[in-house]
Amino acid sequence: MPGTEGAGGERLGKELGFPGTFYAANITPAGLSQWSDGEILRAITGGVTRSGRAMFPVMPYPRYRALSEADAEAIVAYIRTLTPIAREIPPSQLDFPVNLLIRTLPEPYAPQPSPDRSSPVAYGRYLATMAGCPVCHTRAERGKPIQGMECAGGAAFDVPQAGRVQSANITPDSDTGIGDWPRTFFIERFRDPASAGTRRLPLRDRRLNTIMPWTMFAGMTDEDLGAIYAYLRTVRPVRNQVARFTGPG
Ligand code: HEC
Repeated sequence: MPGTEGAGGERLGKELGFPGTFYAANITPAGLSQWSDGEILRAITGGVTRSGRAMFPVMPYPRYRALSEADAEAIVAYIRTLTPIAREIPPSQLDFPVNLLIRTLPEPYAPQPSPDRSSPVAYGRYLATMAGCPVCHTRAERGKPIQGMECAGGAAFDVPQAGRVQSANITPDSDTGIGDWPRTFFIERFRDPASAGTRRLPLRDRRLNTIMPWTMFAGMTDEDLGAIYAYLRTVRPVRNQVARFTGPG
C-alpha cells in the first residue's frame, strides 16, 4: 500500500504452511529507532534481532550471509531514509519444537567482497542468490534442496484460493527448461509484468495466480537480468517437465 513502505505487519501464517504466525517487522526509522547500524546489519545477515532472538528464516538471512559488505551497508543506509511510520507489530509466534530448533540457525556474518561485475556469470550467480531464484526453483526434502535437481523446478506452493503452483524448470534443458530461450526473450519475460495494467490487476478467487515475484523483479536492469541469464546457462541442464498451474481454477 503506497505510504506504508517498510512499516511491516504483513502476516504469514499456517495457511501458507508456516510453523506458526509471523508478522513482518516495522523497518522504518520509527521501528528501528533503538537499533544501531551494526545491529541492523547483524539482523539482515546473521538472523539475530537487537534483543538477541533468533529469527525464523522466512526472513531469508541464510542467503543474505552472501551479501557483499558494501551492499549490506548500502541497504542499512537506505532503510534509514524511509519515512518513519509509528506502527506496533504483533510478536511472531512459533510452534514447538521449531521455536527451539531455529536457535541453531544464526551464524555470524563474515564480510564478503563485492561480486565481479565484469564477469556476467559471477555477478549473475550473486544476484540469483540474493533474489532467491534457486531457493524457489529447486525441490526440497525436509528443508534441504534435492541434489542434482538445482533450478529444475517442481517446488510446490499452495496458494490460498488459487490452488497449487509449481516453480518452473529454469535449467538450460531445451525441452523442459529454458534452454531455447534467447537472452532477449528472457529479459522481456520480466518486463511484461511491469506494465501498469498488470500491476493493478485485482486478485480473484479460483484464478491462476503465481507467487513468482514477477513485479518485484521487473525493475531490474538489462545488465542484471542478462547476468542472471548468463549464470543460468551454466547450471546443469535437467530434464524435468513441470505442470506449473494445477489449481482448482
Ligand atoms: C517465491 C518463489 C520464487 C522466486 C523467488 C523466484 N521464482 Fe521464478 N517462478 C516461481 C513459480 C512458482 C513459477 C511458476 C509460475 C509462473 O510461471 O509464474 C516461476 C516461473 C518462472 C519462470 C517462467 C518460466 C516460463 O516458462 O514462463 C522463469 C523464467 C523464472 N521463474 C525465473 C526466475 C528467476 C530468474 C528468479 C530469480 C531472479 C526467480 N524465478 C525467482 C517461483 C519463484
